[in-house]
Amino acid sequence: AQDVKADLTEVLYTKEEIDAKIRELAAVIDRDYADKDVLLVGVLKGAVMVMADLARALRSHVTMDWMAVSSYGSGTKSSGVVRILKDLDADLMNRHVLIVEDIIDSGLTLSWLKTNLESRGPATLEICTLFRKPDAVKVDIDVKYVGMDIPNKFVVGYGLDFAEKYRNLDCVGILAPHIYQ
Ligand code: PRP
Ligand code: MN
Ligand code: MG
Repeated sequence: AQDVKADLTEVLYTKEEIDAKIRELAAVIDRDYADKDVLLVGVLKGAVMVMADLARALRSHVTMDWMAVSSYGSGTKSSGVVRILKDLDADLMNRHVLIVEDIIDSGLTLSWLKTNLESRGPATLEICTLFRKPDAVKVDIDVKYVGMDIPNKFVVGYGLDFAEKYRNLDCVGILAPHIYQ
């Protein structure tokens, strides 16, 4: 197989920068949930890397569950249609739920997901995302934990895919246009 990093025109965030940001987020989350048991809800598949690293950076007890939703298919633009591909196993009633996402782009996925999970009766429901794009700010979602605000480029790596590839990059970068044009 070919070198996955060779398809990037630019590395935006190195593995070290991502690690540092995740440790920062984890410290704040540890403090905020000091007297609560938190249920981390990872959004498959993009959030796998963030969830794995964030969970290990936390000092407190956590439980983890997963939900698979998709709004993109194989294209580069959000379709606006959110589908549940796999629902949670956990009952959210009276739980302290923290949604873990890799990126908020248009905000469609999370605004839909927040409403959906809110209706299941959690004690608290917050969102943690490693990346957020400028368009997401136009959608009215309250995101408590944001790693980094990033430029409106098609980025891949660290869970973020193009046609299911590039998730395994340990950094995040801009995909060369010839790959998706
Ligand atoms: C990506 C990303 C977020 C969502 C953000 O997931 O992981 O979940 O899109 O986009 P939005 O804010 O415009 O809704 P995707 O639907 O591609 O599924 P995946 O996680 O399996 O890649
Ligand atoms: Mn996703
Ligand atoms: Mg995707």
